[in-house]
Amino acid sequence: VKSPLDFKNFWYVACQSNELKGQPLARRILHEWIVLFRDDHQTAIALQDRCLHRQAQLSQGQCRKGQIQCPYHGWIYNGEGKVITIPSEGDHLEKLPPTKAKKYLTREQDGLIFVQLLENPDYPTTPFKMPHFNEAGYETVSLFNIFENNVLNCAENFIDVPHTVFVHNKIFRKSLNQKVTAVVERKNSSVVVNYLGETSNLGWFSWFLNPRSEPIEHIDTYYAPNVTSVKYGFGKKEFWISSQCVPVDDHQTFVYTYLTFKFGFFNKLAKPFVKYQGQSVINQDINALNNQMQVIKKYGALFLNSTADIIHQYIESLYHEISAGRNPQNISPQKTEIQFWI
Ligand code: FES
Ligand SMILES: [Fe+2]
Repeated sequence: VKSPLDFKNFWYVACQSNELKGQPLARRILHEWIVLFRDDHQTAIALQDRCLHRQAQLSQGQCRKGQIQCPYHGWIYNGEGKVITIPSEGDHLEKLPPTKAKKYLTREQDGLIFVQLLENPDYPTTPFKMPHFNEAGYETVSLFNIFENNVLNCAENFIDVPHTVFVHNKIFRKSLNQKVTAVVERKNSSVVVNYLGETSNLGWFSWFLNPRSEPIEHIDTYYAPNVTSVKYGFGKKEFWISSQCVPVDDHQTFVYTYLTFKFGFFNKLAKPFVKYQGQSVINQDINALNNQMQVIKKYGALFLNSTADIIHQYIESLYHEISAGRNPQNISPQKTEIQFWI
């Protein structure tokens, strides 16, 4: 009998690498409370954030030479989650409990620390690799934001094109009543949307990104359950927006966004500009998604779909496979071409 798939089988970003230094860090992922710290090899450790003694939060304690000390009675845990010191027992090591704190798998990759809450032998997973991070010719600006909405609605928003002309009116795009054709494909637990014949709907970015109004390469991808990646190509220039959504609970999502670009000569110069504009665009989405979640809390997620929403219907179908404990990889491939106006 195979173990049913669970959202906990996937890897989620717990924090950025440079956030985890001399102090423990508390995080909540899928309702689980986690404390992070670095052991004496600087390896990121993730334990359940509760002391085995009387249940204090270890994250309120202190790091001690690669170990963590509970703030209540000072028990010290090593990177294995084993209690190695009980101050009130003096040096009576035989009094140390055999029980260990619950420990989660961690990986450090692309400047991020990932946690896996539950290993599934029938469904091995790996952290999503951020496209072109640290590659020659590419620069990355990283952003962190908290959305008061769930992972599904966040991920849908990050590859939703029709909202851009309203929520991001002028900054990002302007409405031209332009017809857009997209090939939408569901395969291998992802949804890939390839936009055809897009030219000049980038608002006032156009003068820089696409001065000659050449056809734009635009591919949006959703990787179930929690990652999206957007690629724009303008001749030799590239712009990638990769977002890792982390479910804190059913109503809150932490989002780690990498804006990765290859603008040639302008690369370094563009960084603060990209950061400022990227954050401005995200702030608009935070408002839109907060608005949406308030209504969902009141009336439920009663959605109607327009033509462009086939993208979201595919996303939801993959997500719901995981909710049902099934592997989204096994869902039938689908491919369709759609037209809509922005
Ligand atoms: S509760 Fe942690 S040492 Fe007592
Ligand atoms: Fe948006």
